[in-house]
Amino acid sequence: MKAGILLVEDDNQQRQLLCQLLHAEQYQVFSAATVEDALVLLKQQPQIELVFSDWKLGNYTGLTILNYVRSNLPELGFVVATAYGSVSHAVEAIQAGADDYLTKPFKRQELLLAVSKGLTAKRLRSQNRQLSQQLSEQRQLVDLIGKAPCMQQLFQRINRVSNSDATVLISGESGTGKELAARALHQLSSRCKGPFIAINCGAIPEQLAEAELFGAEKGAYTGAHQAKAGKFEAAAGGTLFLDEVAELPLSLQAKLLRLLQEGKVTRLGSHQEITLDVRLIAASHQDLAQAVQDGRFREDLFYRLNVVPLHMPALRQRSEDIPQLIQHFLQISQQRYQLSAPALTKATLKQLMDYPWPGNVRELANRIERFVLLGDENELLADLTTQSTPGGFELPPDGLNWQQHERDCLQQALNRAGGNKAQAAKLLQLPYKTLLYRLEKYRLTG
Ligand SMILES: Nc1ncnc2c1ncn2[C@@H]1O[C@H](COP(=O)(O)OP(=O)(O)OP(=O)(O)O)[C@@H](O)[C@H]1O
Ligand SMILES: [Mg+2]
Repeated sequence: MKAGILLVEDDNQQRQLLCQLLHAEQYQVFSAATVEDALVLLKQQPQIELVFSDWKLGNYTGLTILNYVRSNLPELGFVVATAYGSVSHAVEAIQAGADDYLTKPFKRQELLLAVSKGLTAKRLRSQNRQLSQQLSEQRQLVDLIGKAPCMQQLFQRINRVSNSDATVLISGESGTGKELAARALHQLSSRCKGPFIAINCGAIPEQLAEAELFGAEKGAYTGAHQAKAGKFEAAAGGTLFLDEVAELPLSLQAKLLRLLQEGKVTRLGSHQEITLDVRLIAASHQDLAQAVQDGRFREDLFYRLNVVPLHMPALRQRSEDIPQLIQHFLQISQQRYQLSAPALTKATLKQLMDYPWPGNVRELANRIERFVLLGDENELLADLTTQSTPGGFELPPDGLNWQQHERDCLQQALNRAGGNKAQAAKLLQLPYKTLLYRLEKYRLTG
């Protein structure tokens, strides 16, 4: 059976005739004598791919059906039949989106040709939609790979907030894709044609940070030979990505807060306020809430930034994505170096999937790049096992504050030992004297 066709014709005899004719050509025919019946069939029969409708239908015209179709089932083919001499109706129909028209009386062959033309148009429209849907799905992912449910949820969130100007705070361990997510937010937003400016707040020396971010007038500081626009100004109309925002000096946090509250900046050495339209995205691998508690980060700024929190899951929480990520990075590196890497064995893949990847996607990407360059599977696995938790302790991905850690260990051992230093030394497997020395160093007492 060929496509489904809805035939709308109020003349019983004609309808039956056309019905038979189309039926003989193997079309699946649905017929209606009125506009009302036609609309009911359109709603009920998803097989319908084309409407062939008479123009004059009682008190209505085919235009009513055509309008309904174009706004509700825009892909459907549509052919109208108009009475001899009524050219204006044909013009009206084509303008309203009909694919073709026939003037009565028409020959069988003309009808079949118009029908097949309408069906072709319909199929092209469907294909187009599918293609653009695929394209937009690709666009939606913007390089972010992740089939795991936690990533899918994240993509949904990114999609949802991309088009608002809401400030987004991205958290997650190092190498989890925070910057990539920020870029995706920008690319999916209506600001995508505007600039995306990324600043690593931890990488600018404090003395230069203000001029760098907010701009400076000529002579505002030693070496300022020319007036200079800040990064905020450079991001006007686009997105500013403040990476490692926890590292922003307290003095600049106040200025940033003002920008967020009032949308204005003032260059260093100037009194003039500049009004800016900038969308802000911030990221930090540190726990900002903790930084607030420690007094390193302004609480009011934290709330301003944290309008929409986005958390990037660690790679070990989504190891099902590892094979696809491997493919992705293999492709990138092979293309970049014009080399082809040997296929990975199942055993290797399993080891890679079981590894906890403290450096997350970045670590995986680096390893794959090395593998492509050296072409040796052993390179891919080198140190994987030794790196992972020999004594059950895993160094956090971002390292730790050793002194603080040592002090915590001592304190906890003392607490657990109820202040008994000999026992505390045992708990830490330290010689008694060493423990005493260390307690002294940290001024800890039992
Ligand atoms: N989901 C992902 N799909 C594909 N590539 C990814 C994904 N996540 C991260 N990457 C890649 O991993 C690398 C690190 O990502 P990115 O720089 O965004 O991480 P980050 O969270 O900003 O890390 P850091 O905190 O160290 O700055 C980049 O090369 C990025 O392209
Ligand atoms: Mg980053």
